[in-house]
Amino acid sequence: MHFTQLLQDRFHEALKPLTDAPESFASMIRPTTDPKHGDYQANLAMPLSKKLGKPPRDVAAAVVEAVKLDDVCETPEIAGPGFINLKVKDSFLAEQIRGLLGDARCGVGKTDSTQPIVIDFSSPNVAKPMHVGHIRSTVIGDSLARTLKFLGYHTITDNHLGDWGTQFGIIIYGYKHFGDPEVVAKDPVPELSKLYRRVNGLIEYRKAVAWVPDIEQAIETARADAADLESQTPDPADAKAAKKLKKSIASANRRVESLQSELESLRSKIAGVEADPTSAADAAAHPDIDKAVLQETAKLHQGDAENLELWKKFLPFCKDEINRVYDRLDVQFDHTLGESFYHSMLGGVVEQLESKGLASTSDGAVCVFLDGFDAPMIVRKQDGAFLYATTDLATLRYRLDEFNPAEILYVVDSRQSEHFDKIFAVAGEFGLAEVKLVHVNFGTVLGEDGKPMKTRSGSLIGLESLLDDAVDRARTVVCDPQRLENFDPPMEVAEQEMVAETVGIGAIKFADLGHHRTSDYRFNLDKMVALEGNTSTYVQYSYARTQAILQRAEKAESDVIAMIDTHGLSFSHVAERTLALSLLRFEEALLAVHKDYAPNALVDYLLDTARVYSRFNDSCHVLKAESEAIQATRLALVALTGRVLQLGLRLLGVGVVPRM
Ligand code: ARG
Repeated sequence: MHFTQLLQDRFHEALKPLTDAPESFASMIRPTTDPKHGDYQANLAMPLSKKLGKPPRDVAAAVVEAVKLDDVCETPEIAGPGFINLKVKDSFLAEQIRGLLGDARCGVGKTDSTQPIVIDFSSPNVAKPMHVGHIRSTVIGDSLARTLKFLGYHTITDNHLGDWGTQFGIIIYGYKHFGDPEVVAKDPVPELSKLYRRVNGLIEYRKAVAWVPDIEQAIETARADAADLESQTPDPADAKAAKKLKKSIASANRRVESLQSELESLRSKIAGVEADPTSAADAAAHPDIDKAVLQETAKLHQGDAENLELWKKFLPFCKDEINRVYDRLDVQFDHTLGESFYHSMLGGVVEQLESKGLASTSDGAVCVFLDGFDAPMIVRKQDGAFLYATTDLATLRYRLDEFNPAEILYVVDSRQSEHFDKIFAVAGEFGLAEVKLVHVNFGTVLGEDGKPMKTRSGSLIGLESLLDDAVDRARTVVCDPQRLENFDPPMEVAEQEMVAETVGIGAIKFADLGHHRTSDYRFNLDKMVALEGNTSTYVQYSYARTQAILQRAEKAESDVIAMIDTHGLSFSHVAERTLALSLLRFEEALLAVHKDYAPNALVDYLLDTARVYSRFNDSCHVLKAESEAIQATRLALVALTGRVLQLGLRLLGVGVVPRM
């Protein structure tokens, strides 16, 4: 049930005679944080009074007079300047909680919309190892898919693998020049990974070498700019101008500094390669490696037999590699239609754009010129190669024909915003506009230093080693010998491992999902796995506490239902009510996830419920309750809390353990 919505609907009705914008005022109802102000508070009287030119308390009184709430709330109170405080009736609350018992959906309704929602997520470029940057799309997309599916939507998940790009040119080149067919056949995944790193390292080296003079030039220009500014003397009478000049000088100096640090990192990359005899020899022997790799990719796309053969041979290994990560993360897809799947459709897309007059040739490249963008969208390069955008247009058309979706969500890094803006703009003109297209964008994972997370050698941190680290950290926290002493029967090693894995992997996901997707966040494993704080460990631990109580009481939910049937459900402590109200808000949290495609709404809800549950535990005895009737209600709350926490975590892709 969406209780806030119910209240808003009731206020909406009551506000109709008072204003022509009842909806916007009705939306000003929120759960309170302090029970002193009731359970919900409406602060609509103050803004409405301005519109009506009447004292806010009078307006509040008129609204209270008109609103019909007596079946769900006590008589509303008007507080302070005109706040309307609402207290949910105990009888109503008890009835709602009784309704949740035995309900596997925990009170969450189902949509009757049947048109599919396609969710494009994870979509890594394979052939190179997955790194920390792949966490976000995978975890956000998976939790959106789980949540929407639970809400009753027909979801179709599609992993739009980058399985056709330059990275294959890289491993094909690597295999041809450095590969040992026997080693690759025997141990393909690490070997291909090694080849990828070796060739990519050389490409990066080439790029760095080529960039150094440009950066040096840029530093000189920036220094000259700074010096020029410093030599200016501002008019002493004009304080504003002086301040402005100071600011410009500081910003010019900052630019010099940032270019210098870029230069330093390029130089250290170059020095790294040159200091190592093998890579130095490689670099000398493969001076045009960047161009050669592009040629290998182009040959693959043109259907060159040898390269196509190699691609077919390598692709399954690359997929094995990422599937290992997906298994560990418990992420599945309905489809994995990679870029290669669309290759044969790309020519048709370009032709269609041309025949509809949307594309034209400029400098030999086929471009779509779009209003509101500086640069056109190139769909075919001069050399005949198609682009990322061409593939996305083909993919869009295929999805519309094949799935007839109502929505397509693209869970992709914010840095691709312009790409998607253009795709969506072209889609409109392409006659593909009936579908709602959403770029579910997200920010960057940063290291402790606030910069994009890298290893010491400057490469991106591999996802698997990160997961291992998280599980190790989790083990030290939850399997600490002192904690383990408390378990009876003792926790065997296999169970400890299961707990560490569930807690460690859950921690990474939960921490990621806990930040609003559009913000960047700093990656800190210690904080993520801690037992206290805004962590999944805390929520998982709260869940385990519910299970411990039920086990000690020797009651399953069906037994609790029988107790309630005998004693009824009623509240004897404020902490019970607060917990009950929180349990009632589950659906609201899930709908908020859908509304903004933002799983952090569910994370916040679960943390809040776990905290409220902890307060309930501190103040209400369950096993030693004052009477059997009181115990019945408390056990019902414990059982429901356990299920809501478990289900909520599951919708985030996070597991639970029965004890920890
Ligand atoms: N493979 C792309 C990358 O790693 C992401 C693909 C996202 N999906 C899409 N339909 N463009 O940047």
